[in-house]
Amino acid sequence: MGNWPTIPFPLPPTMRHMKTTARAGSNIAFIKYWGNLIDDIRVPRNNSVAMTLSHCHTVSTVGLDAGLQSDEVFQGEGMMGDEERRRASQHLENIRRAAGRNEYARIATKSSFPAGCGIASSASAFAAITAAACKAYGLETDSTEMSKLARLGSASASRSCFGGFVELLAGRSHEDTYSVQVAPERHWPELRDVIAVVSRERKSVSSSVGHVMAKTSPLYEARISSLPPEISRVKAAILDKDLTALGEILEREALCLHAIAMTSRPPILYWVQETIAILHAVRSWREEGVHAYFTIDAGPNVHIITTSDCVRPVLSRLDALGVSDTIVDEPGGGPVFLDEHLF
Ligand code: PMV
Repeated sequence: MGNWPTIPFPLPPTMRHMKTTARAGSNIAFIKYWGNLIDDIRVPRNNSVAMTLSHCHTVSTVGLDAGLQSDEVFQGEGMMGDEERRRASQHLENIRRAAGRNEYARIATKSSFPAGCGIASSASAFAAITAAACKAYGLETDSTEMSKLARLGSASASRSCFGGFVELLAGRSHEDTYSVQVAPERHWPELRDVIAVVSRERKSVSSSVGHVMAKTSPLYEARISSLPPEISRVKAAILDKDLTALGEILEREALCLHAIAMTSRPPILYWVQETIAILHAVRSWREEGVHAYFTIDAGPNVHIITTSDCVRPVLSRLDALGVSDTIVDEPGGGPVFLDEHLF
């Protein structure tokens, strides 16, 4: 499985078989997952807390075909990179094993946003693939079981198996590491994630590599031990809909993650000049009464967490900074099945 064909959608009629399609939202972590206890099955060292997004999503179609000699992974617009495509096939194998099935499948995914640049594309991709593949292989799963399986593809995908505000509980094995909903999307519908897209380029160091390297940072253990009270505070801030309390923690947390990345050996520097300019700007906007806070995943793009009434002032200020490529997102629901297929 090395060469991944790129073909136009829709696929020719001869390639159409029994198939299932699911859509799942990406998510933005307020408390980040960074580093694993068990790398190969993606059991994280720490719990993480995120908001599932509505507009940044991935659609995935999985079609079983007993005649295939291997999985075929097709590329849609905004599709994952090579590494993720290899991972998609590996992930199908996890689901086949759980379902006790052995037919290979065709799989296609299409995302509504740029991949691999800090907008958690693997979260929505692996959640959508998991939902579609479980159904295609006849594996009956509730959201909890699905969140365990999705985690094998990408741990952040585990959180996308639920809508709203979600915590990934880091256990010590596959069975006790899954996600739970903290609050549904309707709990805080006015919360917004304004994504300032300063680069659509794929990052040079993937999150998977970053997780492995995290342990080489002298700051890593300090972050892990400082997290439990931060996690309790973040969940309380979500339940109280307290943006000031949430914002203080999420800025601190994002800086902490990047401090670890920057002090890993070799160091990983995800930020570009515009990233830093936006961090300073968001702080100064608060002094002007714009209630907004930043967080950054593993990439240069900045997520500005705010409320619906501040979206306009945030967008106009970003524009004045020269950042006009933006995505405005909001709390979204869990995975859904669609009648329309990608092929
Ligand atoms: O699930 P992964 O391997 O793509 O890692 C996600 C890492 C961060 O986005 C930086 C943090 C997070 O919790 O989403």
